[in-house]
Amino acid sequence: MRVHIIGGGNLGSALAIGISKFTKNVDVVMTRRNLQQIQSLASDVIKISSSNKFEIDKADIIILTIKPYQVDAVLQEILPHISQKIIASAVSGCSIHSLEEKTNHAHHIVRIMPNIAAQFGASATCISYSESSKNVGTQVQDLFSQLGIAVTIEEKLMDGATVLGACGTAYALRYIRAAMQAGIEIGFDAQTAMAIASQTVKGAALMTLEEKVHPEQLIDRVTTPQGCTIVGLNEMEHQGFSSSLIKGIKTSFHKIKDMKS
Ligand SMILES: NC(=O)c1ccc[n+]([C@@H]2O[C@H](COP(=O)([O-])OP(=O)(O)OC[C@H]3O[C@@H](n4cnc5c(N)ncnc54)[C@H](OP(=O)(O)O)[C@@H]3O)[C@@H](O)[C@H]2O)c1
Repeated sequence: MRVHIIGGGNLGSALAIGISKFTKNVDVVMTRRNLQQIQSLASDVIKISSSNKFEIDKADIIILTIKPYQVDAVLQEILPHISQKIIASAVSGCSIHSLEEKTNHAHHIVRIMPNIAAQFGASATCISYSESSKNVGTQVQDLFSQLGIAVTIEEKLMDGATVLGACGTAYALRYIRAAMQAGIEIGFDAQTAMAIASQTVKGAALMTLEEKVHPEQLIDRVTTPQGCTIVGLNEMEHQGFSSSLIKGIKTSFHKIKDMKS
């Protein structure tokens, strides 16, 4: 399979690296204008180019990882050179319908919302496609399920997926940073605090992913009556821990809606 990634920035590069590490028999072409920035990623599996048209006719899946305002120019450039392709767009806020119109209904459009942990085979990718693109949607899902988990969702949930799955990486990293800072105050050096905080988050995530039980049930396993965990947790809640997360996630969600209107 050949995947053609247009927009070798943060997300595009993470996808290219993830594909090269975690899939078999998938080649990548990745493009951006400032090629210098991705020179180090060029390999047997990843070809890089500053031309979006480079070998695009050979692509099985074209992935768009560009900003919304770059979509029209990129499509104008590539459309005369492709026919009947699968175009998987990670562009936030750009609907399947608008992409179908922009591509004259001549291609299969799939919306994807991966995150940059695809680089480590750990993305939470949400995928949407219309009924008429079901077969190709399944192909895209197969690819992304090798880069982490890949779930099909209704398109109306895509803004929510952007916040929970893509922005969510930043929220989780901020938790790790805060835990590190506390760890340093308690006496750890920064590197050790980072390793402990990160591995603890990874372990907690593995428990919910593998056991599929509500986090609160798992918290019960850690909290001894009158112990140190419950007093810390309750103090965090008194200070608005869950409330601030919920409010932050909803603020990001409303911002996406505002940007579209
Ligand atoms: N970052 C994330 O975690 C994440 C997660 C999910 C979805 N997304 C979405 O993915 C898209 C990209 O986000 P990002 O964070 O990766 O942005 P980014 O780092 O700015 O990457 C965009 C890339 O597109 C390239 N580009 C711009 N115009 C181009 C053109 N005409 N032809 C080819 N390449 C072009 C830019 O490089 P040059 O200027 O060198 O061309 C840049 O490297 C956005 O729509 C974002 O909402 C991002």
